[in-house]
Amino acid sequence: MDMADIIVTGGAGFIGSHLVDHLIDQDHNVLVVDDLSSGSTENLSRWIGDERLRFVRWDITRPLDGCEDLRSHGRIDCIFHLAARIDVITSFDDPLDDAMRNYIGTLNVLEFARNRGCEQVIFSSSAAVFQDNGLVPIDESFPTGPLSPYGFHKLMSEGILDLYDLHHGMRNASFRFFNVYGPRQDPANPYSGVISKFIRMCIDGERLIIFGDGEQTRDFVFVKDVVRTLVRGYEKGATGQYNVGTGTETTINELAATIAGGFDTDPGRDHKGERMGEIQRSCADIGRIKKELDIGPDTSLCDGIRRTVEWYLDEYKAEGGNG
Ligand SMILES: NC(=O)c1ccc[n+]([C@@H]2O[C@H](COP(=O)([O-])OP(=O)(O)OC[C@H]3O[C@@H](n4cnc5c(N)ncnc54)[C@H](O)[C@@H]3O)[C@@H](O)[C@H]2O)c1
Repeated sequence: MDMADIIVTGGAGFIGSHLVDHLIDQDHNVLVVDDLSSGSTENLSRWIGDERLRFVRWDITRPLDGCEDLRSHGRIDCIFHLAARIDVITSFDDPLDDAMRNYIGTLNVLEFARNRGCEQVIFSSSAAVFQDNGLVPIDESFPTGPLSPYGFHKLMSEGILDLYDLHHGMRNASFRFFNVYGPRQDPANPYSGVISKFIRMCIDGERLIIFGDGEQTRDFVFVKDVVRTLVRGYEKGATGQYNVGTGTETTINELAATIAGGFDTDPGRDHKGERMGEIQRSCADIGRIKKELDIGPDTSLCDGIRRTVEWYLDEYKAEGGNG
């Protein structure tokens, strides 16, 4: 594909920074918009001094046209909108702030796109938009019914993206990520992925904390596979909603055993009460991305965990730990 000018909101975060890597590797020009509330410019350090990357610190709860660097930016071919607060628990404590970041932020991005003649916005939605009725796998037509303000604001964002498609001739798409994991995921974030937390606990020799009985399931998808899917959606001009997962269900107990099994000593487990807004079973039907976008995951859970552990061990050594 020809070189394009692309904006990535949330590009200093976990998934966003992998997306930036992929896009610049394909020789696109990328402008990252991020307020650094949970992301870090360290995630973009590979591109320091490379003119294909620009960074603007901006809070998307404010209109993007209010930022001179954004207003004066030239052509924009596509906006990947990933900026969000990903903390489901905080979305109960402070639903207004969640609405600002996870819904009004989307509206600000869409208005900016419309004003600037950018016709394509690719949005990072979530499996949190779905109802929990215990049935899996979940395809895109499965009933929605979010269990948290976070999921509700993601669903509202999807709705407004569709409306801009209809009324402003845009080609917008929402990708509903299941549980994403991989290098750079921050284990310190209370709602960050369980894989990053388990790996960190194993490295620190701490007992693994499991909420509930551990028989709840999730569909864990490696971050590089998520990024490939988003970029394919951009290249193919995807519209509507798409699941991004693997189609494989893994219990938290199985996950804990797999991760702990990769270390010399298994630190053991502690169980705590279930967390609010969590579902019992989760597994994507990924037929639509396979059929319409001709793409699917190609990293097994074992391989993805191995690559993630290697990254955390390197980080740990760089921090001065014994690894
Ligand atoms: N990690 C997952 O498993 C998962 C699952 C479903 C959906 N998602 C979605 O994927 C996207 C990326 O998530 P992530 O895991 O990389 O999280 P992350 O916290 O690492 O990244 C989010 C980024 O958005 C930035 N940000 C937050 N509020 C902002 C604001 N008001 N203005 C500008 N920037 C802001 C943060 O600084 C951060 O860099 C989010 O939209 C999230 O909801 C993630």
